Amino acid sequence: MKCVDDFRLQFGKQELVPIIIGGMGVDISTAELALEAARLGGIGHISDAMLPTVSDRRYETHFVKEKLKQYKYNIDNSDKSAVKFDLGQIAEATRLHVSKSMEAKRGEGMIFINCMEKLTMNAPRETLRVRLRTALDAGIDGITLSAGLHLSSFALMEDHPRFRDARLGIIVSSLRALQLFLRKTAKLNRLPDFIVVEGPLAGGHLGFDMDWAKYDLHTIMAEIYQYLQTEKLNIPLIAAGGIFTGSDAVSFLENGAAAVQVATRFTAVHECGLPEKVMQEYIKATESDIEVNTVSPTGYPMRMLKNSPAIGSGIRPGCESYGYLLDGSGNCAYIEAYNREVTAHPNAKKISVKDKTCLCTHMRNFNCWTCGHYTYRLKDTTRRLPDGSYQILSAEHVFRDYQFSVDQKIAMPD
Ligand SMILES: Cc1cc2nc3c(=O)[nH]c(=O)nc-3n(C[C@H](O)[C@H](O)[C@H](O)COP(=O)(O)O)c2cc1C
Repeated sequence: MKCVDDFRLQFGKQELVPIIIGGMGVDISTAELALEAARLGGIGHISDAMLPTVSDRRYETHFVKEKLKQYKYNIDNSDKSAVKFDLGQIAEATRLHVSKSMEAKRGEGMIFINCMEKLTMNAPRETLRVRLRTALDAGIDGITLSAGLHLSSFALMEDHPRFRDARLGIIVSSLRALQLFLRKTAKLNRLPDFIVVEGPLAGGHLGFDMDWAKYDLHTIMAEIYQYLQTEKLNIPLIAAGGIFTGSDAVSFLENGAAAVQVATRFTAVHECGLPEKVMQEYIKATESDIEVNTVSPTGYPMRMLKNSPAIGSGIRPGCESYGYLLDGSGNCAYIEAYNREVTAHPNAKKISVKDKTCLCTHMRNFNCWTCGHYTYRLKDTTRRLPDGSYQILSAEHVFRDYQFSVDQKIAMPD
C-alpha cells in the first residue's frame, strides 16, 4: 500500500516531498508554519494579504497607524476613493516579511507566497505589481497566484530578473480559468511552473458559485490533466481542497497529481497564526456549524464557521486603516451594505449588517473564521484534554502523518 512518501514533486533537478501547505491569509499560514514545511522537505506558503498590518505586528513597523493618521479626516465620509496605499510602504512590508522568512529557512524545501488578485487595494495594477516584484526581490522561492484570473500578473513581472527562475504558479478551479490564463500569457513564452487545482471543499474563498456542491475535485483534476496531455504541456498539477488524510493524497498522486496542497489540518497546530481560542472553535465544530455564504465583499463565496463574529457584524468600514478590498474606484460591497443599514436605522447606536462583512478588519482580528469543509473532522485528529479543550498538534506531526500514513489512518499525538 502506497504512502505520500513514495512520491516526489520534481522541480527541475530539485525533488520535494509532494506536500504543500496552502496560503492562509491574514497570517494564518505564518512564516513559522511555512518554515516547518520547508524544513520537512515540502513547500510552505506565507501570505501577502495585508502585509503592512502583519509587518506592524511582527516587525514593529507603524504602517497602519501612519495610514490612519493620513486619512483620519475621511472616516465619516462614505466615499473612500481618496484612501490610497503608499506603494513604498507596501514594498517595505513585503520586503520585511519575505526576507525575514527566507533568512530563517532551513532544509531542502521551499517557501512560496500566496498572492490574491482580489486584494485590489484601490489601485489594482500598481499595488499588485509592487507586491509581486518585491517578493521576487526579497528572494521568495515561488509565487502562487490566487483569488482571481491573474490575466496580467505574469506581464507585471515579465522584466524582473527572476521572472524565469522563480517558481510561478496559479490556482484555478476550472479548465476554463486555466485556458484563459494560458492564452493570455502565451506571448510571454513562459508557462506556469505549477497549477494548483482547487476544488469546492477548500477553505477561504471558493472559485465556484453557490452551486459548489455539484463539483468534485477528482473530476476537475482529470479534465485538466487530460487537457495538458492533449496539449503536450508538462506542468505539475497540484490537487487541493478536502484532502484530509495521506490516503486521500495518494488517490490524487496515483492519478496524475504531482503534489497536494492542504490547509485545514494545519489550522489546529501551534505554528498556525490563529489564536488558540479560535483553534478550539475550529476543532470542536460539527458539520452543521459550517456554511458557505456570500458575506465576503469580494463576490466570491466563502466557507466559514457559522459562529464567526464577522457574520452580522455592523462595524464601521475600516478602509482608512486597511482598505484592501477597495476596487479601482474606491468602492467595496461592505461600504454599500453598511451605508444602507445606517440610513435605514438612523437612530440606532449599533447596527447589524447581514449580507456583507468588513472582511479586512475581521480577518485582521481573526474574527472571520474561514475554514475547509472537513474542519468538522479535526476533532478526530487529536485528543480531548481533561479540561475539555483539545490538544493542539505540531505542524511536524500533521505533516508527517500526511507523508507516511496509509489505509485512511490518522496518527494520534502522543
Ligand atoms: C483558514 C483558511 C484560510 C485560507 N486562506 C486562503 C488565502 O488567503 N488564499 C488562498 O489562495 N487560499 C486560502 N485558503 C485555501 C488553502 O490555501 C488551500 O488551498 C485549501 O484550503 C486546501 O484545502 P483543505 O483546507 O481542505 O486542505 C485558505 C484555507 C483555510 C483553511
